Amino acid sequence: EQIEKGGYDHFMLKEIHEQPRAIRDTYRGRLLRDKAIIKMAGVEDNMKKFLNADRIIIVACGTSWHAGLVAEYIFEEFSRIPVEVEYASEFRYRNPVITEKDVVIAISQSGETADTLAAIKLAKSKGAFVFGVCNVVGSSIARETDAGAYTHAGPEIGVASTKAFTTQITVLTLMALRLARAKGTMSSSDFRLHIQELELIPQKVEQLLKVDEHVKDIAKQYLLSTNCLYLGRGYNFPVALEGALKLKEISYIHAEGYPAAEMKHGPIALIDDRMPVIVIATSKGHYEKVVSNIQEIKSRKGKIIAIVTKGDTAVKEIADHVIEIPESEEAFSPLLTTIPLQLLSYHIAVMRNCNVDQPRNLAKSVTVE
Ligand code: AGP
Repeated sequence: EQIEKGGYDHFMLKEIHEQPRAIRDTYRGRLLRDKAIIKMAGVEDNMKKFLNADRIIIVACGTSWHAGLVAEYIFEEFSRIPVEVEYASEFRYRNPVITEKDVVIAISQSGETADTLAAIKLAKSKGAFVFGVCNVVGSSIARETDAGAYTHAGPEIGVASTKAFTTQITVLTLMALRLARAKGTMSSSDFRLHIQELELIPQKVEQLLKVDEHVKDIAKQYLLSTNCLYLGRGYNFPVALEGALKLKEISYIHAEGYPAAEMKHGPIALIDDRMPVIVIATSKGHYEKVVSNIQEIKSRKGKIIAIVTKGDTAVKEIADHVIEIPESEEAFSPLLTTIPLQLLSYHIAVMRNCNVDQPRNLAKSVTVE
């Protein structure tokens, strides 16, 4: 097992550090920058289905559902296709309206999640075209779907999903860009810029992983917290949800993720000097509004851990801690902002002596209801 961990203390840490490679493997052979094209067999072969779709319905659970939420923002922005994101467990039991003009995308790392599999069967029975985004090759979901794209993240052993999340987002981003070109909703120059930017993400993640020691220092100060709030907006709202899920799963600290603007509708009542609030405040993501949220937290004495873009000055003055991420296209920022949140949960969990790779009550894939 020590050998399999590749010198890391835990699989989760190894998998966090594998992300630059995993993201590169996800777009390798699909993103051809020199020719300025994206090619994905499962999409090319079914292009008509995608182009004629009235809407895309994404079904998934847990972290994969969070990747679906990021994809909703990206698909709508790039390819102008309406997207709905559903918990597979709700979708399958609520008699949803599905037609032959719907494209259903099922996202699952393991490809074995019972609820997602049942949602796929339901969608197929109503005549929808179902596309799978899975990591495990030959898994039940990969076999049950009409077509699909693998994430190529490599085996994910840690129960807390890390590289599966970022590679799911990468696959879905490639799809959204491909469809944007096919539909003409993105100019060829914008498309070129986006694929150049996407290709830079692995090296930015590599650079970002160097914040590990800094994040560990922050973790030391919050390991005895009992609650934690995560806030983000736009593309980074789902990252806030994912950050909170990661902390809950492996450290057993109660955490909630919220869209930053929703704070004033309730969660603000929770803020006092014992409440750490992790705020994602990237420079291109409704920055001023998020800064004003940070000020509201500060005036209630909440402890602020802010994820900011390199070079930020305004948040630095207010926040208790700042973690810098490299600058990027805002739509791709979840691939960066999520990294320090994974590390933060990891270090807190290790310092609390939790079983990071196999947290209590959880299984890697939920094959029962
Ligand atoms: C993630 O950290 C979780 N352990 C869990 O939420 C997981 O994402 C969910 O069970 C879905 O799994 P799947 O991607 O294999 O379908």
